[in-house]
Amino acid sequence: MSAEASVYPVPEFASSTTHISSEQYKTMYQQSIKKPDVFWAKQAQIIDWVKPFKTVKDTSFKKEDFRIKWFADGTLNVCANCVDRHLPHNKDKIAFIFEGNEPGNVRHISYEELYHHVCRFANVLKKHGVKKGNVVTLYMPMIPEAIYAMLACARIGAIHSVVFGGFSASALAGRLDDCGSKIVITADGAQRGPKTIPLKETVDLALTKTKKATVQKVITIKHTGAGCHMKEDQDVWYHEEARQVQDECAYEEMGAEDPLFILYTSGSTGTPKGVLHTSGGYLTYAALTHKYVFDYHENDIYWCTADVGWITGHSYVVYGPLANGATSVIFEGVPTYPDAARFWQVIDDHKVSIFYTAPTAIRSLMSKGDDYVTRTNRSSLRVLGSVGEPLNPEAWHWYYNLVGRSTCPIVDTWWQTETGGILLTPLPGAMSLKPGSVARPFFGIQPALLNKEGKEIRGAGTGSLVIKESWPGQMRGVYQDQDRFFKTYFDTFKGYYSSEDGARRDKEGYYWITGRMDDIINVSGHRIGTAEVEAAINNHPQVAESAVIGIPHPIKGEALFAFVILKMGADVKAVFDADLLQLIGRNIGSFAKPETIVIVPGLPKTRSGKIMRRILRKIALGKTNEIGDTSTLSEPRIVNKISELVLAAQ
Ligand code: PRX
Repeated sequence: MSAEASVYPVPEFASSTTHISSEQYKTMYQQSIKKPDVFWAKQAQIIDWVKPFKTVKDTSFKKEDFRIKWFADGTLNVCANCVDRHLPHNKDKIAFIFEGNEPGNVRHISYEELYHHVCRFANVLKKHGVKKGNVVTLYMPMIPEAIYAMLACARIGAIHSVVFGGFSASALAGRLDDCGSKIVITADGAQRGPKTIPLKETVDLALTKTKKATVQKVITIKHTGAGCHMKEDQDVWYHEEARQVQDECAYEEMGAEDPLFILYTSGSTGTPKGVLHTSGGYLTYAALTHKYVFDYHENDIYWCTADVGWITGHSYVVYGPLANGATSVIFEGVPTYPDAARFWQVIDDHKVSIFYTAPTAIRSLMSKGDDYVTRTNRSSLRVLGSVGEPLNPEAWHWYYNLVGRSTCPIVDTWWQTETGGILLTPLPGAMSLKPGSVARPFFGIQPALLNKEGKEIRGAGTGSLVIKESWPGQMRGVYQDQDRFFKTYFDTFKGYYSSEDGARRDKEGYYWITGRMDDIINVSGHRIGTAEVEAAINNHPQVAESAVIGIPHPIKGEALFAFVILKMGADVKAVFDADLLQLIGRNIGSFAKPETIVIVPGLPKTRSGKIMRRILRKIALGKTNEIGDTSTLSEPRIVNKISELVLAAQ
C-alpha cells in the first residue's frame, strides 16, 4: 500500500470530545483568513493583557513598507501570564513534574512554588544589575532551574538567549559575542544518560574565546555536585545568591512588541543568526497552538521531550503549556537510559496523556525492538505528536499502532525556529490522518507552493513552501541585523515569507514536506548549516577545502558526509584519525560530526567555482549513473576519481 493510500479517519470518540471538530476547523479557518483582525482580537484573549490592544495586525512583507507588528499598543507580562494568573484558582496545581536522569529522581513543582522560584531568580538577576532590554545567556541542563531562569528574564523584561548544552565552547563564545550578554547562567554539569557533561567548565573555556569580553557574571546552579573553579569577582553560586533575596518580585509591564528572547539557529550562509521573538503575538500563538494542536484540556498531563535549548522547548515546554496552566513532565535524561523503555515507563509513572517527541527518537526506539514498549501500559495516552523532521510512514505506523495502541491521533507538526509555533499540522478530532503528511494549515496560516519562476501552484503540486501573510508568532528580526532578516526570508520570493523547505500538496490539500531546499541538513532534528561544518573542517591546518552534504540515515533522518581536500604533502593518516572529528566537536558540538569523511583530490565545481553538491550527493549514495551531464564542470574527470574513493571508503 502506498503511503498516500493509507488514511486514518477521525475516530468517533475523538471528534465528540475535542475542542475543534471538522466543521469548526473549516469555519474558524475561513474566519482567520478573511477577517484576521476580528479572529486574532478574539483569540488573543487566551492570555491576559495589562493594557488591552486596539490595533491587531499591522504587517507587510513588501520591501517598501516592510513591517511585522501584532497587538502593538497592548501591554502584558509574559511571565505573569505563565505563572501569576494561575495562582488565584490553581496555586496548588502541579506546573512541572521533573523526571531526573536517574529513575526515581522526581520532583513536583506547583504553580505557587514556581512563582516563588521565579521571583527569587528574578531578584538575583536584578541584584546583578540586569535591566529591561539586557540579554542574559543560558547554558543549562534540562532542569527546572533553566525554566525559572527563562521566566525570571521575562518577568523583569530581560531578553534570554538559551544556548543548547550540547554546543561547544567556541559556539557559545560566538553567540555571547553576537548578543553582547553581560550575564551567563549555567550549572556545574548536566547528566545525559551515563554521561556527565561539564557545563561550567565549557563556559569558562568559552569566556577565554570571546572577542568582546562583555560577560561580567556567571551564575552557576549546583546540580551534579561536580567541583567548579570559581573565579573571584566573576563567578557566583546561585544557591548562595538566592538566600540573599526575597521570593516576591513585581513584574515589568512590557509592550507587545518588546523582545522576549533570541534563539540562535543555523542558516545556509554565514554565522548562526539570532532569531528574535517578541512578547504578545508570540505568547498568543504559542498558547493557542498548544491548546488546539494537542487538544489540551485542564486535566491532561502533557510531556514534550524537547530540550529548552531549541525552539520546541521554548514554545511547547515553557511558554505555551504554562500560559494554558498545564501540568507538564520535564525530562533531563535520554530515551535509552537506563534502557529503551524509559519514555514509556515515564508515561506510565506520571499518567501522561499528551506526548510530543521527535522522529529521530521514535526511529531509534523502534530499532531496539517492540518488547521495550509492550512491557509498559501507556493507556493514559490520548494524543501523540511529532516535530523537527519528516516522520516516515514506517515510523508513523510503529508510533501509532504500538506506542499509541491504535487509539491516539498523531499530530505531525511542521514549523521552524523562525515561525515561533506550529504552522502545518492535523488537529485531533478535526482531520483524518495521512502517515507522512503534516496535513493542513493552522488558523491564520496561508501556505502556498511556488514554482521555480516564483508563481503560485494551484491544486496538487510540488514547490517551495512559502507563507503569504503574517501570523502573530512569526519572528520579528535577526538580532541586530534587520537587513539580514529581510534578505534571508522575504527577498527570494517577493511578498512571501520563504521557509526554505520544499513541499508537495495532494489533491485534498494535505501538505507533505519534502525537505530543505537550502544548504541546511537536519541530523536527528538538529539543524546544521553545511557552511558551519565546512568552516570547522577548514580550520584544520592540513585541510585546503571541504564540502559537506547530507545523505539519508535510517535513524538520524540525515547524516553528514564530508569531502575533504588536503594541502599539498599533508599526512593523510593524521587527518583521518579522530583529529577532524574532534575539531568539529570543539567548534560546533558533537552532534555536528560527520558520519563519513573521504579525502579527495578535488571537488566538482562549475567554471565559476560553485561546488555542485547535487553531484556529491549522487556520488555519496553510489548513484553515479544518475549524475547526468558533467560538461559544465571545470574538471569533469574529478567525478570518477571521487566516486572511486567513496567506493573504497565504504
Ligand atoms: O526542514 C523543516 C524541519 O525542521 C526545520 C526547522 O528546524 P528548526 O528551526 O530547528 O525547528 C525545529 C522544530 C520546530 C524545517 O525547516 N521540520 C520541522 N518539522 C518538520 C520538519 N520537516 C518535516 N516534518 C516536520 N513535521
